[in-house]
Amino acid sequence: ISQPYWQGQRLLISAGPTFEDLDPVRFLGNRSSGKMGFAIAEQAQKMGAKVTLIAGPVTLATPFNVHRIDVRSAQQMFAAVQAHYAQNAVFISAAAVADFALAQSSQHKIKKQPGQDGLTLQLVKNPDIVAWVAAQSDKPFVVGFAAETQNVLEYARAKLHAKKLDMICANQVGENLGFEREQNQLTLLSAQHEKILPTSTKSEQAQQLLAFIAEQQTSIKA
Ligand code: PMT
Repeated sequence: ISQPYWQGQRLLISAGPTFEDLDPVRFLGNRSSGKMGFAIAEQAQKMGAKVTLIAGPVTLATPFNVHRIDVRSAQQMFAAVQAHYAQNAVFISAAAVADFALAQSSQHKIKKQPGQDGLTLQLVKNPDIVAWVAAQSDKPFVVGFAAETQNVLEYARAKLHAKKLDMICANQVGENLGFEREQNQLTLLSAQHEKILPTSTKSEQAQQLLAFIAEQQTSIKA
């Protein structure tokens, strides 16, 4: 099913963490290697899709024939997604976006003061990128991720509805699964369908996810 659907299809993916700078040497960030999002980009390209990959700060090589845009902060990822979403049929938000950024980041390294035994940081909420895309009138088919350590399906369903997504990938994270690991276990959820994938490599999970999106899209258009 998947290859004919993806042939020539334009796909936008966000991957990796975002880093929110405190000063030139320190940042707040999320645990994400980018492997899941990069695996989706690689497999989609192999299925014939034209892929744009917006990558947070990761150390991965760009998959063959994939257009990569590097960003660092959530605001930069938001700007890149805003510039590209409308040219794509599908947006997959696999990035682990920092929920908050520093209210102010310092131009110079913050120095410890003599006797100082604490530090208070003021944070401001970052934009919710995937929810913003889902709210646009010219939105693509929007797929989110939800990494959870417990009540995975319940929390994922809540995010599917709250962010008005077309689909969400509930991601069981924990020992040997999820962040930074080679293996993953996704449950694919849409309003009508639920598909539990067996634990496998991120490339295999990506293939199944892309096939599931193709099935959903083909049945919508039929
Ligand atoms: O990169 P790896 O090491 O391979 O790990 C993969 C992963 C675990 C990071 C990835 O597969 C994953 O699950 N990413 C989502 C992590 C998460 O739980 O995100 P969230 O619950 O904060 O956000 C839910 C959804 O909203 C996600 O699609 C996220 O991209 C999006 N979001 C969140 C916050 C925000 N400000 N903007 C967003 O777009």
